[in-house]
Order: sequence, then C-alpha cells, then structure tokens
Amino acid sequence: MYNENNRKPQIFNGYQEHYEAAGARQNGGSMNILFGEKPGISAAEVEDALAFSEKQVLRNLPEFTEKFQKAYSEDGFYQPIENNYWTTGFWTGEIWLAYEYAKEKGLSDAEALQKAGEVQVESFLHRIDNKIEVEHHDMGFLYSPSCVAAYKLTGNEKGKEAAVKAADQLITRYHPVGEFIQAWGPMDAPENYRLIIDCLLNLPLLYWASEETGDNKYREIAEKHIHTAIKNVIREDYSTWHTFFFNMETGEPDHGATCQGYRDGSAWARGQAWGIYGCALAYQYTKRKEYIDIFKHVTQYYLEHLPKDMVPFWDLEFTDGDEQPRDSSSASIAACGMLEMIKSLEPEEADIYRNYAKQMMKSLYDNYAVKDPSKSNGLVLHSTYSNHSPYNTCNHYGVDECNSWGDYFYMEALTRLRKDWILYW
Ligand code: GLY
Repeated sequence: MYNENNRKPQIFNGYQEHYEAAGARQNGGSMNILFGEKPGISAAEVEDALAFSEKQVLRNLPEFTEKFQKAYSEDGFYQPIENNYWTTGFWTGEIWLAYEYAKEKGLSDAEALQKAGEVQVESFLHRIDNKIEVEHHDMGFLYSPSCVAAYKLTGNEKGKEAAVKAADQLITRYHPVGEFIQAWGPMDAPENYRLIIDCLLNLPLLYWASEETGDNKYREIAEKHIHTAIKNVIREDYSTWHTFFFNMETGEPDHGATCQGYRDGSAWARGQAWGIYGCALAYQYTKRKEYIDIFKHVTQYYLEHLPKDMVPFWDLEFTDGDEQPRDSSSASIAACGMLEMIKSLEPEEADIYRNYAKQMMKSLYDNYAVKDPSKSNGLVLHSTYSNHSPYNTCNHYGVDECNSWGDYFYMEALTRLRKDWILYW
C-alpha cells in the first residue's frame, strides 16, 4: 500500500465497513448498497447481448481476419490495421468468445470463427518471431485473449508456442533491483523506470507459461511485480495511481504520476478498473489473502465514485452533471474483476459483487451497447481511450467511441454471467 511514509500494508475489512457504513440490510440474498433496487441484467438479456455480439463479430470477419481492428472506432467504425499495436489481441479474443458461444449453441458459425481465430494466431506467432512492436509490457493483453485462448479452447500448438515466446519477451522487461516489469520505453532510461497499474493484466500470461513449461521463472517474476505494484500503486484512500516511478539506483519507490488520467492525484477510471480486475487475478494466482481485502477497498472506491447509471466518466474525479466523456470500457473491466473475485468469496459477499456487476452490465446493455450494425461495427459505444487534459501527458484520440478492449471485456463479462467460464487470463 502506497503512503507518504512507505508504511506497511494495513489489514482491511472492506466489505463489512462498506456494508455497515451504507446502513445496508440484507434483502433476500440480493443486497444493493449503493444503487438501490436498480435491476441487474437478466439471463434473457445476457443471451440477447451475446447473440448480437456473436453475429457482429461474424459480420466483421471478412474485413478483420487478415487484418485487425484499430484500437478505437472513428464515428462508430473500426478501420483495419496490421498486427502492430498493443490492442490487437482483444479483437482475436472477441473471435474466440464468439466461437465459444456459437459452438455451445450448435451454430454452424463456429467453424468460420475458429478458422479466423487460427489465421490471427498465425499472425501473432509471426509477430513475436519477428519482434514486431513487442518492446513494451503488453504481452499479456496481446497473447492471452488470442493465443492462450486458442490453445485452451482448441489445443492450437502455434498458439501455445507464440504465447510462451511472448512470456519470454515479457520477462526481459523485469528490473531485479526495483522488482517490477517496466511498462514502456528503453530499459536503461530513468524517465522510463516505472510500472503502470494496467500491467496486472499482463501477468496471467506468466503464470500460464510456468504451468505449461514447468519453469518457475515466469511465476517468480510475476509475483515480485504484483507485490511491488500493489504496494505502491494503491493510495491510502484506495484510489490508484496510473503509473509509479522508482529510483533506478536503489529501486526505492519514488512517486506516482498519471498519463491517461485527468491529473496526477485523480483516479483514472480505467486504471481503477484494471486495479479491481488485477487484484482479483492477483489473489487467484497467489492466494495471498490480503489481496482480497485490497480488492474490496479498491472496488468500494470505484463504486462510490460512479455516476447514477454506474458507467464511469473517464476519470473518477467527474460525476453526474459534468460535461465529460464516459469510459464504458472501465465498467466492463470492473464487472469482469468482480465476477472473477466472487469465485473466492463467501456466498453472501459474492452476491453483493455479482449484483453490482449485473447492474453495471444492465446499464451497458440498455444504454451503451450497439443495437444497429448500420451505425457501428463495434459492440459498446461511449468509451474513452486517451483524453488529453491540461494536467496529463497523453495524446487525444479514441474519445467517446467504441474501443477494442471495451468490446472484448463486455463479451467476457456476459460470458461469465452465462456460464462458469474458463478464463483466457
Ligand atoms: N493499457 C492502456 C489503456 O488502458 O489504455
């Protein structure tokens, strides 16, 4: 846990405090603490949303089998790109989620989806073999939903080969002095000596690689990184830094800073959601109990800073009445994190987080999801990739559009609500 004096982590009791502070009462196993009796997405709506998503993915295959979707849509439409950006794995992940759905429904579409997924896996193998735009930490975002998924679902050996190579690439970014994986830029520059909260989603690739190869080196690095990240990137009030710098000589924590959030001290909505999902995964892979409590607090901070419709503005600094864009992708990511964490919670607590996730998904389904393919070739509108502010360091693009991970995590959350999903992460 980060604080000014670098004190040790405290012990938390987030759920109880949250529950009591809100004066909530249990109501037939479906507690609603912050958002009243707002309905959650129903099983029929989950089915409808996935059926639409599967067909939308299928419609996109002619344009996006040899090519990939750009990170964000423009006026609602994705343009094709080569496999050379950090986001391309999400589109392939959508193909695999659509394939799972089609197969279980006995739809003949499954064959075309599998073939397209296989073409894309070949592209990922080529990419890692030729080191095309892989000098960064996003190997998990690229290779888990594409190649690990292909291997888990269909036994695709090229997927396995590519993903193990990607794990090898990822561990080249580990700094033994600071005990973290560096996000961006050349490894020898102090201005790049930092981790970012998003990286928690890149680590499952390392656990998977240890499992598959029997070599513990990947897992050991993942565990060091998780520990360093969670200790520093989460503030005392359980909001999160987007990025955190360390001293290159000593490895000591130095300072937090934003890149894509509104300002340094605010909580970037997607970063907080990466924190929620990241803590849930950190617990699943390490079984360190303190991560459950941290998950609860980080989630509580997020929920308490949502607007009424439970889909955040791009930074949690903003709320109802602010003229700011939303980040719908953040809501889907947070829902996935809650649905992952509930596997390890007592039924009463699990109900609380499942309800939140279902309420958020209902809001996305009702008011953010694409319903008419002539208006967009994506799945979820009103996402924000990179919104420049006077106080941040990012460029301005993909604001109030669909984005590739928003679409992917929307499908993942729906799939998690539909069945006991074997995760790609
Ligand atoms: N991982 C980068 C982002 O969430 O925009």
